[in-house]
Amino acid sequence: MNKIVVLISGRGSNMENLVSSDIPGKFVLVASNNPHAGGLKRAKNMGIRTAIIDHKTYSNRQDFDLALAKKLEEYEPDLILLAGFMRVLSKQFLSRFENKVLNIHPSLLPAFPGQHSHKQAIKKGVRIHGCTVHFVTPSLDAGPIIVQSAIPVNPKDDEESLAKKVLEQEHQIYPIAVKWFLEKKLRIKDDKVFVDEDPKFSSLLLFRDT
Ligand code: GAR
Repeated sequence: MNKIVVLISGRGSNMENLVSSDIPGKFVLVASNNPHAGGLKRAKNMGIRTAIIDHKTYSNRQDFDLALAKKLEEYEPDLILLAGFMRVLSKQFLSRFENKVLNIHPSLLPAFPGQHSHKQAIKKGVRIHGCTVHFVTPSLDAGPIIVQSAIPVNPKDDEESLAKKVLEQEHQIYPIAVKWFLEKKLRIKDDKVFVDEDPKFSSLLLFRDT
């Protein structure tokens, strides 16, 4: 059985959605750098073990990443899912879990990496926005893209309405990417992801008119 660890920093809706999806794996740990993350309670309610590795108690990134890596290694994960995890992971951390770490980001990468992606989308007046699941590399929100979902931006949209619409799409695409990964359908070549044909989702770009 595939062992999956989820890293969160906040409310944990993606984590909860992943755990509730029919993913062929066992969620062995939900870990957070934020002791107050609402998702920790959600995980406990679903009977999943939790851990807190508070970055504020470490004097530098290296020490935090090492402590996090050691905690995760106790569980021998096949896959690590970042779900609203707001820390950049170092090369040293990622080299211990090579090509086993996925992230979801609330924009159509490479547009709007980093924080406040919905605010940035509104500011730039984009007509199409969305979310991306990608492999994690040491560069912020820049790893090979697995799947994206796009939504139209309406003139009346604000940050809040966009966040809500995009989150619905996040909950659709993250389980799809995780299943592809666990079914060994993903190959990375020249920093690009190729998906072995899937009868349900032949395209990497899903477009939902919401
Ligand atoms: C989600 O929108 C996720 O894409 C975003 O944080 C939110 C977490 O919500 N992640 C990032 O911005 C990472 N760069 P959740 O805790 O309810 O899943």
